[in-house]
Amino acid sequence: MVSCLAAFSLLTAAQVARADDPPPPLNDDGLARTPPMGWNSWNKFACNVDEALIRKTADAMVSSGMREAGYQYVVIDDCWHGARDAHGDIQPDAKRFPSGMKALGDYIHAKGLKFGIYSDAGLKTCGGRPGSWGHEYQDAKQYAAWGVDYLKYDWCMAGTQDARSAYYIMSSALQASGRDIVLSICEWGTSKPWLWADKVGNLWRTTGDIYDKWEGVRDYSSGVMNIVDKQAELYPYARPGHWNDPDMLEVGNGGMTTEEYRSHFSLWAMLAAPLIAGNDIAGMDAPTKAILTNREVIAVDQDPLGQQARRVSKEGELEVWVRPLQGGGRAVVLLNRGAAPAQVGFDWTQMDYPATLKAKVRDLWAGKDVGVHAGRYEATAASHGVVMLKVQP
Ligand code: GLA
Repeated sequence: MVSCLAAFSLLTAAQVARADDPPPPLNDDGLARTPPMGWNSWNKFACNVDEALIRKTADAMVSSGMREAGYQYVVIDDCWHGARDAHGDIQPDAKRFPSGMKALGDYIHAKGLKFGIYSDAGLKTCGGRPGSWGHEYQDAKQYAAWGVDYLKYDWCMAGTQDARSAYYIMSSALQASGRDIVLSICEWGTSKPWLWADKVGNLWRTTGDIYDKWEGVRDYSSGVMNIVDKQAELYPYARPGHWNDPDMLEVGNGGMTTEEYRSHFSLWAMLAAPLIAGNDIAGMDAPTKAILTNREVIAVDQDPLGQQARRVSKEGELEVWVRPLQGGGRAVVLLNRGAAPAQVGFDWTQMDYPATLKAKVRDLWAGKDVGVHAGRYEATAASHGVVMLKVQP
């Protein structure tokens, strides 16, 4: 039996916890057991959002086969906001969203999809619209009333707030809203959210913004290869319900070749990254659709084990990434960052397999089995291309 004195000292210890201590761990909320899949308006449309675009995109999510391939969330990013009303309740921009957010949410839900929205932990969003600072519970309640299922929560104009505390407040507000709402933390990796955010949200951005180029840095944005390099050490932090987020997809936006987009998509699948398409779904061409809806690559992303890939070798421009899958298989990506086609190989021991273990190898982009092998496998990867394999003993 716990003595009165012991109980008292426990209580005292809890009461004197400092305000800047880490918040107590939340229980897993049961959401995002696999990385969220959906679409977000920002990469293609930036601030040019209105209800016609969102409805058209929801329609296209169904007619294009994106929904059937697993994409669920239709997320309106920045610039949907109008002003707060006399009660301080946030309202949409009435010119862009004349039917209101509840009606738009109903439309999205009627298509068998889920509704996502964007706000910011600061005074204003990055696009200068009202932020949620000081209105967290009020905004969460409003989102729940609109039928929101997913909140992307940004970090502009956040002042001197501690990121962990600020996101914890919104996380608690969402939990109190009475609706299941996925929390997508977007503070760009600044305070190393992989060390704390699994107690607070379902996914966390690990870098600044992506831009539609294979490689390079522009202002606060990075190309695909620069982002990939920043993910290599983060594999221990991903698990079901809680994911590293290397930012939304650029597939189909026109700044890369089809080969490069295939590599971008493959690497995101290896990284157990959220697959949030960022292109014009209603107007996408056949190669874009073929990449975004490749079932075997999506299955790697959505593997229930929820383990993120490790880079097991990097020799000059050639890399090998390995992701353990449920059932003992491995997904392997052979990546060629160089300017000419190259032979890339890997040893079984790099996948933690005994060298003699026989395993079936399947090429996921070719959609064909390439034999039973043991010890080592090699293939030719195109310039800026990948060979993506599933290895199953
Ligand atoms: C930040 C985020 C982006 C996008 C914009 C919107 O830059 O990182 O993903 O949401 O704000 O203004």
